[in-house]
Amino acid sequence: MQSSRQYDGAGFLYDLVYADAPDDTTFWESVASDAAEILEVGCGTGRVLRQFSTRKIMGLDIDSTMLSWGRQNTLKHQDIPLVAGDAAQLPLADESFDTVIAPRGLLSHMISTRRQGLVANELLRVCRQGGTVAVDVPDLRPYTKVGHRSVSYTKTLRTRTREWTVKTTSNYRPGKNSMVTRHAVCMSEPAGQTTHGAFEVESYVFTPSSLWRVFASVDAAQRLALRPRAATRYNAGRLRLIVRKGWTV
Ligand SMILES: C[S@@+](CC[C@H](N)C(=O)[O-])C[C@H]1O[C@@H](n2cnc3c(N)ncnc32)[C@H](O)[C@@H]1O
Repeated sequence: MQSSRQYDGAGFLYDLVYADAPDDTTFWESVASDAAEILEVGCGTGRVLRQFSTRKIMGLDIDSTMLSWGRQNTLKHQDIPLVAGDAAQLPLADESFDTVIAPRGLLSHMISTRRQGLVANELLRVCRQGGTVAVDVPDLRPYTKVGHRSVSYTKTLRTRTREWTVKTTSNYRPGKNSMVTRHAVCMSEPAGQTTHGAFEVESYVFTPSSLWRVFASVDAAQRLALRPRAATRYNAGRLRLIVRKGWTV
C-alpha cells in the first residue's frame, strides 16, 4: 500500500480549517440524495459523512490518524464504519455501493496521471451499474492568470474562550502541475497563551477536460458506458465531476 501521510496528526486542524464549508456539504447532500449505499473514499475525519443517514454508509482513508480523530470526535455519535485502505487498491468487492464519492481532492492527492487512473478505476469498480461516482478537485484556472502563482486567504473563528486564525496559502508549481497548500493555524486564549500548528498538502490541479480524461481512459479500457452528468467549476477554485456508470440514453 502506498502510504500518504500528508495529514498525519492533522485531524483536529483539518476539522477546524474546513469547519465552515456549507456550500460543499450541500453539494454532497444533493449528489447522494437518492443513494441507498454511500462509500466515501478519502473520508478523512468524516466531515462529509456525518450528514448522511443512509442505510449503508462507509468511509475509507489511508491515514489512520484522520480516521481515529473522526471516530472519537466528528462521528462520535454515529455508527459509521471507517476502514483504512488505499484508494488505488480498495479492499472492497466489485459493485458494492450505488454512490461513491471523493470530496475535497482525493484524486488530486495522486500526483501522477497513472495513479489518478488507478484510483478512478477503483472508484468505478466498486460502484454498481447505474450508480454514481462524484469527485471534487482543485481548479487550475486561478493559477493561469498572468503572474498569479499563489492564492492566500485568512479566516478567523471565535468561540467563547478561544480565537483561531487559519491562514491558507496555495503555491502553484507549473512544472509539476500541482500546488502546495499550507494551512497555518494560530490559537489564542484569553490568558494570552498562543499555540501554533500547521499542515501542508500537495495537490494536482485539473481543468474540466483533464479531469474527464482520467475517467474517459478507464471507460475506453473497460467499456463502462460512462456519462458525465456534470463537470462544473464553482466559486472556491475547485472542479466537480459527477459520472453515471452504464447509463444508457
Ligand atoms: C482533503 S482530505 C478530504 C477529506 C474528506 N473527504 C473531506 O471532504 O473532508 C483528503 C483525504 O484523502 C486521504 N487520502 C490521500 N491519499 C489517499 C489514498 N491513496 N487512499 C485513501 N485516502 C487517501 C487523506 O488521508 C485525506 O484524509
